[in-house]
Amino acid sequence: MRLLEERIKKDGQVLGQDVLKVDNFLNHQVDPDLMAAMGEEFQRLFQDKQITKILTVESSGIAPAVFAGLAFHVPVVFARKHKSLTLQDNMYSATVYSYTKKVNNHISISKKFLSADDRVLVIDDFLANGQAVEGLLSIIDAAGAQLEGVGIVIEKTFQKGRALLDQRGIQVESLARIAAFENGQVIFLDENK
Ligand code: G4P
Ligand code: NA
Ligand code: NA
Repeated sequence: MRLLEERIKKDGQVLGQDVLKVDNFLNHQVDPDLMAAMGEEFQRLFQDKQITKILTVESSGIAPAVFAGLAFHVPVVFARKHKSLTLQDNMYSATVYSYTKKVNNHISISKKFLSADDRVLVIDDFLANGQAVEGLLSIIDAAGAQLEGVGIVIEKTFQKGRALLDQRGIQVESLARIAAFENGQVIFLDENK
């Protein structure tokens, strides 16, 4: 998505070897016009699917997920993160290891908001190692719901998340696909998408 790639080039900052800081429009300050355009783009990419629900993880997935939900006119549910796993019968839960932050997060979704009738589109801000998405997939399985696809704002193709999801035959659509960081510059996989 050209608008997003241009924004990343303008406002993204490469930190170290493999982290892109985008707190000017996505991870801290949020640009609602850009989010709305991304929501429309997710709707276009998954228009053949009968989506009934959008799932994401708090906090940075919420903004793009809500705008995707607006475009599809379906509810958006965000998994909540908590540190200690207190087993709760009314929740679906999964453990998510963050390679970036080197911590385990437990994520959970109330059984009230996900059922076997749901056809789910997962949305997240970054696809890096894929652990957050894997956690959501295990929750979708536990609910007996159907995964229809995964929509990502920024994918780092050189980390292992994309391969994990491709192996499972999941339709993954990323609005920006980063091939590499070179000398502090972002190189996109497909600059014409
Ligand atoms: P994964 O989600 O694909 O498994 O990757 P990883 O464990 O490496 O990511 C952990 C956290 O770091 C996630 O946020 C993820 O969105 C974020 N992240 C990964 N790579 C980047 C990057 O290049 N830039 C930025 N800005 N974030 C990145 P989180 O812990 O769920 O936090 P939140 O921001 O959603 O609250
Ligand atoms: Na995230
Ligand atoms: Na994040």
